[in-house]
Amino acid sequence: MNQANITFLGAGNIATAIISGLIQQGFQAARITAADPSEEQLSALKHLKINTSLHNVDAIAGADVVILSVKPDVVASVAATIAPAIVDDPPLLISVAAGVTTGSLSAWLGGDVPVIRCMPNTPAKVQMGATGMFANPRVSDEQKKLAEEILGAVGICVWLETDDQLDAVTALSGSGPAYFFYIMELIEAAGIQLGLDPQICRRLVEQTALGAATMVVESSADPADLRRQVTSKGGTTEAAIARLQNGGLAAIVGSAINAAHRRSIELSELVD
Ligand SMILES: NC(=O)c1ccc[n+]([C@@H]2O[C@H](COP(=O)([O-])OP(=O)(O)OC[C@H]3O[C@@H](n4cnc5c(N)ncnc54)[C@H](OP(=O)(O)O)[C@@H]3O)[C@@H](O)[C@H]2O)c1
Repeated sequence: MNQANITFLGAGNIATAIISGLIQQGFQAARITAADPSEEQLSALKHLKINTSLHNVDAIAGADVVILSVKPDVVASVAATIAPAIVDDPPLLISVAAGVTTGSLSAWLGGDVPVIRCMPNTPAKVQMGATGMFANPRVSDEQKKLAEEILGAVGICVWLETDDQLDAVTALSGSGPAYFFYIMELIEAAGIQLGLDPQICRRLVEQTALGAATMVVESSADPADLRRQVTSKGGTTEAAIARLQNGGLAAIVGSAINAAHRRSIELSELVD
């Protein structure tokens, strides 16, 4: 991967997270270029010692991979701007824009272009992201490997079989960090109600979330098995879990994820 030239079009939050991850993995800063119309945005990347440009077409010269990291409503115009410059020898195009399908991207880019659509999530900022990816048939195995290495710099990646599975990924892991933040908020609030100091609640809740997630990652057991292992008959955990089950938490979570999935499809129809 160190031999690839990578250009980011749009130098905001997600681009910064991926660029930082790449550099931390030892990728050469000199092979990375970021373009953005905002001088301020580009100067915020100065410490990373990458190349920067105010112009998208200049920035993609010599790029093996172009990452479209602009907001979804800007993708069509950015793609149309760079299309004439990539017609003869198209680089791999990776889009992180929510809701923009590979079909639309290929059409805006002029047709026969290798395109990967992916959905990272915000923990990419701390190299703990989860990314779903879908490649169109024009993408080679080598390019897929390169995309895995790039997105792998900020977390784990999984390949999907169809483009529309990205809507499910958006509902699960794309929006997922906020679900966990919300649960943490609620547990913290309950701890404060029980008379604990807010700072102490925060520390206990964050370490409990981290510990529980780490156990799931490191164990071969399912989360359901781990839950059963810590739920003794007649104990405190059983009392709480019974409340969650009787209160309909499973149905609420199911319907929340369905709502996110439907919304992802609706947003996709707006930008596509
Ligand atoms: N942030 C995440 O965790 C996350 C997760 C998954 C997917 N995504 C996707 O990533 C994309 C970017 O999100 P973000 O949060 O990084 O947004 P962001 O921080 O607003 O970054 C987008 C950047 O693109 C710049 N830009 C606007 N028009 C441009 C153009 N024509 N050419 C080049 N750059 C241009 C913006 O500049 P101005 O501010 O001056 O307009 C801004 O600096 C979105 O499509 C989003 O769906 C983000």
